Amino acid sequence: LAPTLTLADRAIVVAGFMGAGKTTVANALARRLRRPFVDLDREIERVASARIADLFAQEGEERFRRREAAAAADELARADRPVIALGGGSLGDETTRALLRERALVAWLDVDLTTAWSRAAGPGRPLTADRAQFDRLWGERRAGYAAAADAIVDAGASATSIAGALAQQVWTRSGVLEIAAGGDGRVFRIVDAAVADRVASDLVLDGGEAGKSPAGLEQLWRALADAGLERSDRVLAVGGGAVTDVVGLAAATFRRGIAWIAAPTTLVGQVDAAIGGKTAIDVAAKNDVGAFWTPQAVLSDPELLATLPPAEWSAGFAECLKTALLAGGPLWELVRGMGPDRPSDSSQAELVRRCAGFKSLVVAEDPRESGLRAILNLGHTVGHGVESAAGYGALRHGEAVAIGLVAALRLSTKLAGLDQTVVDEVSELLAGHGLPRSAPGLAPAAVLAAMRHDKKRAAGTHRFVLLESIGKPVREVEVPDDLVDEVVAAAVRA
Ligand SMILES: NC(=O)c1ccc[n+]([C@@H]2O[C@H](COP(=O)([O-])OP(=O)(O)OC[C@H]3O[C@@H](n4cnc5c(N)ncnc54)[C@H](O)[C@@H]3O)[C@@H](O)[C@H]2O)c1
Ligand SMILES: [Zn+2]
Repeated sequence: LAPTLTLADRAIVVAGFMGAGKTTVANALARRLRRPFVDLDREIERVASARIADLFAQEGEERFRRREAAAAADELARADRPVIALGGGSLGDETTRALLRERALVAWLDVDLTTAWSRAAGPGRPLTADRAQFDRLWGERRAGYAAAADAIVDAGASATSIAGALAQQVWTRSGVLEIAAGGDGRVFRIVDAAVADRVASDLVLDGGEAGKSPAGLEQLWRALADAGLERSDRVLAVGGGAVTDVVGLAAATFRRGIAWIAAPTTLVGQVDAAIGGKTAIDVAAKNDVGAFWTPQAVLSDPELLATLPPAEWSAGFAECLKTALLAGGPLWELVRGMGPDRPSDSSQAELVRRCAGFKSLVVAEDPRESGLRAILNLGHTVGHGVESAAGYGALRHGEAVAIGLVAALRLSTKLAGLDQTVVDEVSELLAGHGLPRSAPGLAPAAVLAAMRHDKKRAAGTHRFVLLESIGKPVREVEVPDDLVDEVVAAAVRA
């Protein structure tokens, strides 16, 4: 059996259909990660001393695919772990797929058909002569990409943003923790008690919010000191969002910052909390002390979610729904089709990959939340209000977000032209997943008081993220007080 290659020893493969922008993105990513760059098509042309269009015409597709598989095998065998732009058809080859799994991590740049055609059509591309054939091929190849991908990113964004998203190395695949070790230095493994029976650890922490405290942080600092960790070592945090938040902050501060890897084990963690480098503990208020400290990688094993209690799954689903409303496209189609039962393994993995890919992109464009990143707060204005008015712990964060989403969408119909059918569909999805749409019994005044902190920051007005349509958020919309009162009143009605 081949030894498992570590994160640092793996090639990164950028795959996708024609027009996805693989070459530009892989090149930019290679520069960011200071790795060699390989364009597999150019490599094939170099070895054959012929252009791909000519090879296709002279030898036929099958012979070309064999050349492609051989070239992929050569590049994947290299010791200097390049970033490889992989030709659109390579994933059809079973041997190549097996090699990729063993030696690489694969990102799929998912391009929609219209964009693909407008970018790809033209001379020199053997498969773009016929539009109907192009469309068919686009459809046929999707399942292969979905099955081989460890990450999915929307190819519609700029190449710089996509490279920035991929540079965060957010990978989702079963067994992925095996590859966390390696590189120079030691890896100190800190594991949430909820998964400690399945994951090897150097230190086990009780999961949940209580650990996100000054005392929890001090315990971690002392453990890292006792273990004799140095700047060249690494911390691996395996657990829910609470564990990755506090361990991330310990890593950010210990020896003025040591590297860390996040391995989230809840749905909230895999789609949200572990991505983007925000770390925190709660002192006088939730998340009021923290630091931006980006992990070297975020490794999510979908199998670890198998033990997640249904209520924790639903809370995570609320954040997925939020992300789907922001992203639109295939993620929205996936989410709206999900019933309350756990999805199949493949849909669950695709859900996590698409949500994580969307957050990675947003973070790449705005790492410090000076603008765009604020869209991730859709549903969180009223959500935070009810979460804090109920008393932290009374409602799960995701449950509060569910209530806040309904409020934000109601406002969106009044101020952003959102169609009422979206509000109805989202409301039904939430109910179907056992999520609340209101928190009966809370005093509206208490919710409004808790929202005042956000309001203060925005110069005395309530500013909301609203939705014009699925996939089209608008930021910084000023909402008049009477409308805020109205949706808050609705949010606490039975
Ligand atoms: N940093 C960020 O950008 C960010 C974003 C969103 C949320 N957060 C933070 O994340 C925290 C919430 O995270 P969460 O929803 O993961 O909750 P959590 O970390 O509190 O975990 C919930 C419970 O599930 C347990 N658990 C963890 N993995 C499990 C598994 N595989 N099977 C069974 N039980 C498991 C935990 O031990 C805990 O008891 C909050 O503190 C929130 O502030 C941070
Ligand atoms: Zn949230």
